[in-house]
Amino acid sequence: MAADTAQALNTGGSSQRPRHVAIIMDGNGRWATDRGWPRLVGHRRGAERVKQIVRACPDLGVNWLTVYAFSTENWKRSTEEVLGLMKIFRRYIEREAEGMSAEGVRLRFIGGRDRLDGKLQALMSSIEARTAGNTRLNLTVAINYGGRDELLRAATKLACKVAQGEVAEPTENDLHACLDTAGHPDPDLVIRTSGETRTSNFLPWQAAYSEYEFTPTLWPDFSPDHLAAILDRFGLRDRRFGGV
Ligand code: IPE
Ligand code: IPE
Ligand code: MG
Repeated sequence: MAADTAQALNTGGSSQRPRHVAIIMDGNGRWATDRGWPRLVGHRRGAERVKQIVRACPDLGVNWLTVYAFSTENWKRSTEEVLGLMKIFRRYIEREAEGMSAEGVRLRFIGGRDRLDGKLQALMSSIEARTAGNTRLNLTVAINYGGRDELLRAATKLACKVAQGEVAEPTENDLHACLDTAGHPDPDLVIRTSGETRTSNFLPWQAAYSEYEFTPTLWPDFSPDHLAAILDRFGLRDRRFGGV
């Protein structure tokens, strides 16, 4: 299949409202240390923000939201911070399961699962199954996600398919089908909070033609109003996808 056809299938389209927004939620640690508090306080406040943003998305016309919660590089942090974050993820799933089911949120996870605690893995699978029929908002949480790791796992899967004769000459769509985000539209807009202007291994394949917005606001301060303002600005962008 031609690359432009693959792109047409994989993107959310060029409408004035982004259908799929992806967020690099950065700045929790600085938010806490600025106040003389432990970094984990910032992560807890950050998790509260996720809930508010998730609730705001459908009314803002966003049908897909992908959030970067923990990277393959974040294991370099202290054991206390890593274990604290894992506990926040477990609690988030346990406490939000009921509400997300009621509000029509379909929750999915991307990233390698093998390195995660067994109890967390079980919770992730169970909420994915429980919310599988929901369509109001597709929420994807990236945990132990790294774009290079995802591409390596996808390339390995694709090589198996080729070896087994299932795929003859791999196309972009064949690789897309092997990604953790198989079946998801590409993000139209990627937002990074906290003033850093890098992508930190987030969705390198999927965001090839995404628009980027970098805001100095730290994630625990990022409100639905901030999101609404960014979405309004998105409407003014001219997306050309290589055309004229
Ligand atoms: C983002 O906030 C959350 C994770 C990476 C888990 P940080 O913890 O990176 O916050 P800063 O960048 O140190 O302020
Ligand atoms: C990116 O933030 C990862 C997440 C937001 C989960 P980091 O804080 O880990 O990224 P760097 O180290 O500043 O690039
Ligand atoms: Mg950071």
